[in-house]
Amino acid sequence: MDFKEIIRVVPDFPVEGISFKDITTLLKDGEKYRQAIDRLKELVSHLNIDVIAGPEARGFVVGAPLAYALGVGFVPIRKSGKLPYDTIEAGYDLEYGKDKLAVHTDAILPGQNVLIADDLLATGGTISTAVNLVQKLGGNVVGAAFLIELEQLEGRKKLPEVEVVSLLSYE
Ligand code: PRP
Repeated sequence: MDFKEIIRVVPDFPVEGISFKDITTLLKDGEKYRQAIDRLKELVSHLNIDVIAGPEARGFVVGAPLAYALGVGFVPIRKSGKLPYDTIEAGYDLEYGKDKLAVHTDAILPGQNVLIADDLLATGGTISTAVNLVQKLGGNVVGAAFLIELEQLEGRKKLPEVEVVSLLSYE
């Protein structure tokens, strides 16, 4: 299955010069969505995973079904101000803009093996922040899984110590 066929590319969104990879066209197709998650599951099958952490919002639609498929828990990493209990936060730069991510202080136990999951690896700012938050809580980041990787932005170079897998990559 060539998943690229089903991902819509929208030029100049959200700002001029950004070629947006729109996964909604994949998500609405039940069979392809399941195939994509099953394939990601295969790509991480060699890892010892206790829990998956996924950044809001698109990380949820990859991380949660992957966690379900693997039979492990899911931890939401949310934008600042959304989580109700005690949190730790970290700021980061995006491909376009800035943001802050937060996680509950009791979401990950020290020593747990954590896979980070998201739809897209671009500059690596989001995933680095997620790794940082997980490590602050004492978790071991055993890998990071993405549907899409934008190779030119070299996001994986920000995470030399983390095994990065992606379903498809764009130049
Ligand atoms: C997008 C995407 C990744 C991140 C990738 O999320 O879903 O999380 O950007 O970019 P990076 O590697 O340069 O950090 P966005 O912050 O747009 O939020 P959303 O999922 O809520 O739309």
